[in-house]
Amino acid sequence: MTWTLITGASAGIGRAFATHLAERGHDLVLTARGVDKLQATADLARAHGVRAEVIPSDLSERGGRLGLLDELRSRALEIDTLVNNAGFGSIGRFADLDADRLEAEVELDIQAVVQLTRALLPPMLAAGRGTIINVASTAAFQPLPTMAVYAAAKAFVLSFSEALWDEVRDQGVEVIALCPGPTDTDFFTRAGDDGVLTGRRTADQAVRSCLDALGKGRPYVVDGLVNAVQAEAGKRAPVRVAIPLARAMVRRRR
Ligand SMILES: NC(=O)c1ccc[n+]([C@@H]2O[C@H](COP(=O)([O-])OP(=O)(O)OC[C@H]3O[C@@H](n4cnc5c(N)ncnc54)[C@H](OP(=O)(O)O)[C@@H]3O)[C@@H](O)[C@H]2O)c1
Repeated sequence: MTWTLITGASAGIGRAFATHLAERGHDLVLTARGVDKLQATADLARAHGVRAEVIPSDLSERGGRLGLLDELRSRALEIDTLVNNAGFGSIGRFADLDADRLEAEVELDIQAVVQLTRALLPPMLAAGRGTIINVASTAAFQPLPTMAVYAAAKAFVLSFSEALWDEVRDQGVEVIALCPGPTDTDFFTRAGDDGVLTGRRTADQAVRSCLDALGKGRPYVVDGLVNAVQAEAGKRAPVRVAIPLARAMVRRRR
């Protein structure tokens, strides 16, 4: 019996992954900090006839990450699909942002992805099958002033995913990075920006884009055509062009 672990499953894109994967028959292990919201996601999943286990954990702390891995072991939950989705950003000039918050952001957006993947990939390789979905962002494709740490963290997630994709693709394990653009979740409120971004897509759309891309040999997928065009342009443009464009785009969308 194998399970799908989804981090950040209490809200937004993580909850959408839970409902879509439950629809496809995946038994789920759901983690985040908020127990009540995790239970609500578990109820949504169970309505599709699958099993759902809840393991609350703070993945920005090493102890939380190790505690989650211990709990998986003690409940004998063998993971064959890992969705590294939990993450947050901070909007503002780097020098003005809270240092502890930035540390937690790096721990969650980078370290949790590395640590969970390092722990759960070897059994997938041994079994000759598995899937790892890492939620990056269109912010990964160019530096982003006022979200410097977040964009750099997501560039890490994208680069990490692309390298792993190549390392394991002939061993039955698929790795893909999902790169959503602005998506209608709690993300921007939590990031400290209560401005309204227009042109947001939904969490459902982002998840569908990712699940549709599985099995097609792609190391990453950008959600939405407009986002994909902007992401590829950001990737190819020289940095002196990409940065002002990214800044202007963020300003225009607010
Ligand atoms: N929304 C966007 O525009 C957008 C665009 C591109 C990429 N993304 C990425 O998509 C992913 C999901 O974000 P979202 O948009 O769905 O935002 P969200 O609605 O704020 O959800 C974030 C999820 O991460 C969990 N989380 C936050 N801190 C955590 C911690 N310390 N330990 C464990 N879980 C934690 C939250 O649960 P708790 O608070 O209960 O812990 C929640 O379930 C993130 O990686 C984000 O960077 C979002």
